[in-house]
Amino acid sequence: MIHTVEVHASRDYTVMIGAELLERAGALAAPLVRGRRAVICAGEHVMPLYGARLRQSLEAAGFTVDCCTYPAGESAKTPETLLKIVDFFAQHGLTRADAVFALGGGVTGDMAGLAAALYQRGIACVQLPTTLLAAVDSSVGGKTAVNLPQGKNQLGVFSQPALVLCDTDTFRTLPPDVYTEGWAEVVKYAFLRRGPLQDLLLENEPDLASVIAACVRIKRDIVAADEFDTGERQLLNFGHTVGHAIETCSGYRIYHGFAVAIGMAVITRGCVSLDLCPPELLARLEMYLNRYHLPQHCTYSADELFAAAMADKKRAGERITLVLPADTGVCRLETVELVRLKEIIERGL
Ligand code: NAD
Ligand code: GLY
Repeated sequence: MIHTVEVHASRDYTVMIGAELLERAGALAAPLVRGRRAVICAGEHVMPLYGARLRQSLEAAGFTVDCCTYPAGESAKTPETLLKIVDFFAQHGLTRADAVFALGGGVTGDMAGLAAALYQRGIACVQLPTTLLAAVDSSVGGKTAVNLPQGKNQLGVFSQPALVLCDTDTFRTLPPDVYTEGWAEVVKYAFLRRGPLQDLLLENEPDLASVIAACVRIKRDIVAADEFDTGERQLLNFGHTVGHAIETCSGYRIYHGFAVAIGMAVITRGCVSLDLCPPELLARLEMYLNRYHLPQHCTYSADELFAAAMADKKRAGERITLVLPADTGVCRLETVELVRLKEIIERGL
């Protein structure tokens, strides 16, 4: 079964989730793209796994295809790689009528999405997420970016994709840790909204495509309400202030999803300890985190985490906006003094 979610933003588009979508990518994308040149962007692990399958599908739909490959992983998500990708587009004669196919995890989605948004002031980009994290989060919503030495995602734009095709067959080759960390973002959604996702997560073996579709529907609603991240969209950062601090402290050795899982646990424990949320929420979070094999503790001190959290994009001077759990399936934004954040972290460790 293929799940379909329509996203309404500055550009409307469809998200499709299910098996064998790579094989259908050409036929599904062709009506959305005026030109017939395509560049597949993928990292060095993903291109050999899935590049040929996507290429075949695009060629069958009449596209002339070139493949742009770069080193995998967060360390390649730089302005230097971005410029190499854009240069590849120019060298291969991509025009404004043509399209980019971003095949991979969040690193490729963010970086190829930004390259497509910048090249000739913007050409169509089809997102094809191949990690769980990219499927439930980064491929939808139009945030694109690369990192600067000063911090993550510091150079980017909002640019919605033309289409998102999540072929769940591709998850079969994911390294186990990369698959597991994706569940942290799924658990995050279960804390943001009441609804079918919460029940799905309690099933013995929830259907993955249904889980992804439930997450994408939640993100769809949040993006429709606040595409440019001035308010409600910040809720998607539940667990991320402490999570990003953990990633920084670990020199990015702790994966994003695992750091977010610990971040959600620290904030929730801190809030319970300070009577800012009911203890049942912590019990529920612990239940989900245990069920999906996600960590809840780290070895960094409150001082280390607080210092690293000072680079958070939600900080404004001496205050910072936090995402706090409020009720079952409800989080709220609260702008607090920095000392309050420190107190929550100290109590939550
Ligand atoms: P990733 O893209 O680095 O992928 C993780 C690893 O898995 C890489 O080594 C990759 O080569 C490999 N891989 C990917 N798919 C594979 C597959 N199917 N089979 C085998 N190997 C595969 O990491 P990620 O966790 O997908 O994404 C993290 C990135 O996403 C971060 O840069 C983060 O900032 C970004 N992000 C963006 C948003 C957004 O809204 N734009 C949201 C969340 C995260
Ligand atoms: N992943 C956060 C956002 O899309 O806003």
